Amino acid sequence: MRTQVGIIGAGPAGLLLSHLLHLRGIDSVVLEEREEQYVRRRVRAGVLESTTADLLREVGLGARMDREGLVHKGISLHFDGEDHYVDFERLVGRTITVYGQQEVVKDLIDARRRAHGQLLFEVRDTAVHETGSDRPRITFTDAEGRPQELVCEVVAGCDGFHGVSRKSLPQNELTVYDHTYPFAWLGILAKAAPVRDELVYANHERGFALYSMRSPEITRLYLQVDPEERIEQWPDERIWSELHTRLPALAEGPVLEKGITAMRSFVASPLRHGRLFLAGDAAHIVPPTGAKGMNLAVADVWLLASALSELLLHNNSALVESYSDTALRRVWRAEHFSWTMTSMLHRQPGATPFERQLQLAQLRYTASSTAAATSLAENYVGMPLTSPL
Ligand code: FAD
Ligand code: DHB
Repeated sequence: MRTQVGIIGAGPAGLLLSHLLHLRGIDSVVLEEREEQYVRRRVRAGVLESTTADLLREVGLGARMDREGLVHKGISLHFDGEDHYVDFERLVGRTITVYGQQEVVKDLIDARRRAHGQLLFEVRDTAVHETGSDRPRITFTDAEGRPQELVCEVVAGCDGFHGVSRKSLPQNELTVYDHTYPFAWLGILAKAAPVRDELVYANHERGFALYSMRSPEITRLYLQVDPEERIEQWPDERIWSELHTRLPALAEGPVLEKGITAMRSFVASPLRHGRLFLAGDAAHIVPPTGAKGMNLAVADVWLLASALSELLLHNNSALVESYSDTALRRVWRAEHFSWTMTSMLHRQPGATPFERQLQLAQLRYTASSTAAATSLAENYVGMPLTSPL
């Protein structure tokens, strides 16, 4: 098999890259280890920056998002027993859209199918070869168990944090920045009509909690938990009791999905070796508090699509040379913002009374100062894709 760009991973990064390349007349094949139904249903992120929503519209993927997505003009910070509204629209004139990651993924798969794009699900044993040459190859076993080889001009590693792509870069050329947080998020999806119109981020002395939603019938809720805890230790009654304690009034309903996610910050640099490029979670992870992960994956592939089209259509390597540095500037902005939000909102195990007072001072400042609230707002809605950062 041959293609111009071999893409490993059918998450938001890999699928959107394939779509953007198609719009520029570049052929790609997407290889995904999971089943299609699993990928379409995997519940994860929910917040689209205005930058991401605008890009999806621009590339013909906005119709269902504009019908079903929920536009939010701000968020509430809940602390000292009260709500404090951060009004994005007033502060920076932009909004966010709540639209599940799996809905973005479904729209992308459907768009690739309509364009007769090649998406191969349930592949195994993916391996990348000869990334230093201009004919890199991907070997894999297809869904029928047959060994296959995909000869490419470029390989895009969009296979998430646990994928093979990052591990295929020469490890001695890679710098890794890693930070693990002493807490995790327990997330649930509940069949309950949201009682609030917008997100609530709560700092409570028992720990962080987040009120979110997916639709007029579905609420999404998160609780800070100990990273050692297992989901079996959290029967539904315990989850609801803790949510009621930490958040303002909320409605209960049948729990449709629940899981625990560890929290870390991670950046690998550079994002390129020869003709292998990394994008999205394959290259970097942020803690979920700033809602940045999927948005960063989108920003990476927006850059990468332009860089690859210059290379493959015009034999101009300037943008592939600068891809890693340009993408990493936005990544570090998001790393810093996500770390700030995480530090401000979570209960820090072992924090001294002094540190707790500093945290409350930061929250009160953010809620009361236009300068501080504007900084949160411009980061949350997303810096323009062309911003120098
Ligand atoms: P992924 O979505 O991980 O996709 C990678 C794909 O590669 C997967 O389909 C995987 O199966 C496949 N794969 C892996 N290995 C191989 C292999 N060897 N061969 C072939 N295929 C392979 N982000 C936000 O922006 N906003 C939020 O509100 C938000 N909330 C979150 C809440 C939770 C609970 C979690 C877990 C994450 C959240 N994120 C959020 C982060 C966001 O979900 C990720 O950043 C996003 O999925 C990254 O997309 P990606 O395409 O880079 O990677
Ligand atoms: C959601 C997830 C986040 O990480 C966040 O910061 C806000 C909302 C969500 O899943 O709805």
